[in-house]
Amino acid sequence: MGVPERLAELRRQIDSHNILYYVHDRPEISDAGYDRLMRDLQALEEEHPELITADSPTQRVGAAPQSELGTVTHRQPMLSLANAMDTAELEAFDGRVRKELGRDDPVEYLAEPKLDGLAVELVYEQGRFVQGSTRGDGVTGEDISANLRTIRAIPLTLTGSRSPDLLEVRGEVFMLRAEFEAMNRNRAEAGEPLFANPRNSAAGSLRMLDTRITAERPLRIYCYGPGVIEGHPAGGFGSQSAFLEALPGWGLPVNPDYRLCRGIAEVVAFYEELEARRETVPYDIDGLVVKVNAYGLQQVLGQRSRSPRWAVAGKFKAQQATTVVADIEASVGRTGAVTPVAHLEPVEVGGVTVSRATLHNQDEIDRKDVRIGDTVLVQRAGDVIPEVVQVITAKRPRGTKPYRLPEECPACGHALYRPEDEVVTRCINAACPAQVQGRIEHFASKGALDIDGLGTKIIARLLATGQVHTVADLYSLAYDDLAALEIERTVHTKEGTLQKQVPLGDKVASKLQAAIAASRRTTFARFLYGLGIRNVGEHLAKVLERAFGGDLQALLAAKPEELQAIDEVGPIVAEGLVRFAADEANRGLIDALLEAGLRWDRTEPAVTGPLPLAGKRFVFTGTLETMSRAEAQSAVEALGGRVSSGVSKKTDYLVAGTGAGTKAAKAEALGVAVIEEEAFRDILKGADGG
Ligand code: IVH
Repeated sequence: MGVPERLAELRRQIDSHNILYYVHDRPEISDAGYDRLMRDLQALEEEHPELITADSPTQRVGAAPQSELGTVTHRQPMLSLANAMDTAELEAFDGRVRKELGRDDPVEYLAEPKLDGLAVELVYEQGRFVQGSTRGDGVTGEDISANLRTIRAIPLTLTGSRSPDLLEVRGEVFMLRAEFEAMNRNRAEAGEPLFANPRNSAAGSLRMLDTRITAERPLRIYCYGPGVIEGHPAGGFGSQSAFLEALPGWGLPVNPDYRLCRGIAEVVAFYEELEARRETVPYDIDGLVVKVNAYGLQQVLGQRSRSPRWAVAGKFKAQQATTVVADIEASVGRTGAVTPVAHLEPVEVGGVTVSRATLHNQDEIDRKDVRIGDTVLVQRAGDVIPEVVQVITAKRPRGTKPYRLPEECPACGHALYRPEDEVVTRCINAACPAQVQGRIEHFASKGALDIDGLGTKIIARLLATGQVHTVADLYSLAYDDLAALEIERTVHTKEGTLQKQVPLGDKVASKLQAAIAASRRTTFARFLYGLGIRNVGEHLAKVLERAFGGDLQALLAAKPEELQAIDEVGPIVAEGLVRFAADEANRGLIDALLEAGLRWDRTEPAVTGPLPLAGKRFVFTGTLETMSRAEAQSAVEALGGRVSSGVSKKTDYLVAGTGAGTKAAKAEALGVAVIEEEAFRDILKGADGG
């Protein structure tokens, strides 16, 4: 196969895997396999830059940041939808449609989930993606072509049977809740600010001037409507259902969860069903969009000023409500971070009673100007803690004052401290009882040592009675002391309900003691996570478990470079780990836990001992004789080295196989060592110790 054919084949494979993944939800390749195809393509294009095409998958990310977003006038305005707030309003919509059409029999509707993302328009000319824009005010939007190109779910060229000469498609860009949450977890672990919800983060990501940032965000798209279409081979679409059925054939993703309904009763049934399973669909939706299916009938019905008469949005019950802030409490977490929490007059939000909401930090309080006594809008999004969205200032009572976090820790009285460039205020007294309490709660939590029954109240009493100072003390608690531990309980008597101090008793104590004992046998990842090391969340703990195979001493002795050689471990996490390991109190705690009998199975580490190639960067060029590129790459990575596609000053070795191209000259010019395959194999052997 010649180079142009090989390039075309790699591009075709990558595009087709994108479509299998994003359009058909039926991947046929692992992430690693996909990455390998991309790297092969990158490497080959680097050697033949003259053969790079604009629609190559490598060209999704633009090189230089844009200075601003241009504007786009839509050929056909992007309308919005009228709302139906309940079943009765949906039925009223159907009544108007049938009256207008003069029909007694049921009308055929197409009903689709109303995605809560950002509406965009994609323009394809002769099957090529030429432009994409936001809805804007419906007439003009912003040119976000460069951002949209980075979304792998959007084909740069349409596939399959012949597509129209001009195809404008409208759709919603959104994030899957799970991918949004994973992104936020990574951000938290890296100390970056969190996004409030998938919608905001999708909208923000699409308007980035630097598309390298957009490319990192887990954006998706579902297409749901036509704009202008010219030169359709079949002469156009007859209905919304025909349109939705055609798109996947061209590689455009469509939400499969739509339903063709005969008459409004079927629409109402779908509306109620979808609202009931709202929390289990993997993305945020806020209603059901109902469209008259036949495009001919849509034409007859026409539009009002800004919305069509042939469609309506059946909205779900709000996940927001208003209530009053009764108090604001400064709550100290296990890391010493002080979080202002609003105590609310209980209110029902989307079917759940809410009485507390996070206010995040002082900056957020200042921005929203939330005060005790204010009436506020609160919202619940997925399983995220409820939050205060905004103050209804018109309802603010007289005499309220802006809220400021206290200057001293409410738990220990130590002065609070806020680094100049951070939003978080902290108590830096490691012995602060609120922090100790938080650390023990974290240690016992589900994702960590999972000690069932060891709740907030019991921990508080164990601390107050001085029976426990650190998590290690849990393992030496005497059964009798546990059974006698007095806990505050709500008791119902003839005289009414009262709070009473009641001993734990035999049953609870023996269960708790068994749970503590059972937690001794754990996994390395749980143990690591339970220690509460800054930025080491559940996911990262598993990454470290794999990398070190459960070898705690190796992890504690690891140097920052070795840690950073692990995929997903960046400088912040590495430094946090090294600092943690250097602290005497932490080492003492670890020793005490090991002494108490905590243990886990060791596994084969993904990388053994200290990493011999840590920090070393390799680049390959030409063809290797005794191994494939992929094998060479995994060998380097397994030993802690990194492989990049292009030679730079940072490169340590350029491994030149047969037919090496221009890279060798560049490497020599930069003073980078150019080695042959045999020397490379010697490095691997030497590093392996074999
Ligand atoms: S159709 C004239 N279909 O809802 C038809 N819109 O209020 C207009 N949306 O801006 C749009 N899912 O952001 C349509 N399946 C869907 C939708 C949908 C979400 C959003 C879209 C639009 C807004 C209209």
